[in-house]
Amino acid sequence: MKKELPWWKKGIIYQIYPRSFMDLNSDGIGDLEGITRQLDYLSDLGIDAIWLSPIYQSPNVDFGYDVANYVDVDQEFGTLQHFDQLVTAAHQRNIKIILDLVLNHTSDQHPWFVESRKSKDNPYHDWYMWHDPSPKGGPPNNWLSWFGGGGWEYDQHLDQYYFHMFYKEQPDLNWRNPQVRQAMLDVYRFWLDRGVDGFRMDVFNMYFKDKDLRDNPLGGKGPRKFNHQLHLYDMSQPEMHPLLQEIRQLLDSYGEKYMVGETFYSSPQQAAAYIGDDQLHAGFDFSMLGRKFSAPFFRKAIKDWLSALDEKWPNFVLNNHDNSRSATRYKAKKDDKVLKVSATMLLTLVGTPFLYYGEEIGMRDIFLWRHQVLDPVSKRYWPLLPPRDGCRSPMQWDGTDFAGFSNAKPWLPVHPASEQRNVIVQQSDPASLLHFYKNLITIRRAHSALHSGSMEMIDESNPSILAYTRQSDEETVLVALNFTKKAANFVLPVQYREKSWNVILSQHLQEQETTTGTKFALQPLETLILRLN
Ligand code: NOJ
Ligand code: CA
Repeated sequence: MKKELPWWKKGIIYQIYPRSFMDLNSDGIGDLEGITRQLDYLSDLGIDAIWLSPIYQSPNVDFGYDVANYVDVDQEFGTLQHFDQLVTAAHQRNIKIILDLVLNHTSDQHPWFVESRKSKDNPYHDWYMWHDPSPKGGPPNNWLSWFGGGGWEYDQHLDQYYFHMFYKEQPDLNWRNPQVRQAMLDVYRFWLDRGVDGFRMDVFNMYFKDKDLRDNPLGGKGPRKFNHQLHLYDMSQPEMHPLLQEIRQLLDSYGEKYMVGETFYSSPQQAAAYIGDDQLHAGFDFSMLGRKFSAPFFRKAIKDWLSALDEKWPNFVLNNHDNSRSATRYKAKKDDKVLKVSATMLLTLVGTPFLYYGEEIGMRDIFLWRHQVLDPVSKRYWPLLPPRDGCRSPMQWDGTDFAGFSNAKPWLPVHPASEQRNVIVQQSDPASLLHFYKNLITIRRAHSALHSGSMEMIDESNPSILAYTRQSDEETVLVALNFTKKAANFVLPVQYREKSWNVILSQHLQEQETTTGTKFALQPLETLILRLN
């Protein structure tokens, strides 16, 4: 008998930024009870799992990505009891819960760090990357912070520096210390025992740094100084592989669990090297998160990622909490047509699609003046890089003052267009983007070729249309997407010419109609899905 694929292969994962999804206790900040309240919406949308951006106690220098306690919920989000309720209610609806583990660094308010800076002989001192000044004076080496400036912060009292890849309020842990390793494995156990189904591992390839602290060679280009070094020694060290294996063994002892890694600052090949049966289940490739919107661009990104992965299971993603939203990046018109094209691609590709809250209603970035920006790194790089706050605005549930997100003024402004662009409006409009996403998800679920099948690109030199076939034991499905605003044709491979196809999705053919030919014409921005009869 054919083996069913596990949930994380067949399913669709939906990322929630908890501060911005739903505020139930009217303090302007989203919370766990709010998410529980909206589970029926998510179940109706058809997703299989929720990835929650960090919910742990945090001073919010990096909005949750600076953790002060890994085994409790921040009071802004609720309590552990609220968390348990969320897990139970999600599981009742067959929705899995994935937590975001930020284990490269802690907050500087974490008791471990508070202890570690007390004295050089404090038992926690070695839990962080404390080092003496270089013999010439100054920081131990040339490593930088991704968030800007040097990576080393001087502590006068200790006459030592500690390393921070991100803000100085996010000191990096010393993963070479076996006690750190044990403490972190205990964090996994704590949440697995509470019924969590998986983890997204924040910048995991940074846990280990060169033990001799060698300088990074100079080289490379980009808008940040960080881009002008070759990061040979401050990340991606070989010690990460055995650690992933150890974590994987722990996860496997709990049944069908999942871990997806954020491989930071890496190529598709580097990201793929951490994935496998005894390492990560999956990893992200961020090549698609750019501004380009063309068939050749996506074709190349898809092919590069798939060839790096070889037989490993892919993920595809168009949006997350660190980047401008796709609707903004593609300068989508009100009709959302370009978003329908990208959604069809995302939800018909091989591998696991990741959605980001509000993507399904085409939320756009909010515009902020510099004084409104809350994310520190975005203040620093303003106006060079778009602020990350832009994509973190409150979910647009309805057309009321605070978009149905809260009864109080939200922590970030709601988008001014929320009166027209919201869930309620789109639920009652069969032509809306929300209906389109739901329909695609239903189609994906109904067709084994789409959720489990193999994939092959066709008509690969076509400049306008991205086309591919998906194939399972039961069926062959063909997808063709016109990324341009002009009508265009694509040519079928020889073996499919003059065969009869059933229309699953099209904007100019009737659903259920049959069609045949050698060449197919697509209207501007048309999305076509056919099934071989
Ligand atoms: C990656 C996260 O996605 C980002 O939001 C965060 O600022 C950094 N890691 C630091 O934790
Ligand atoms: Ca709240």
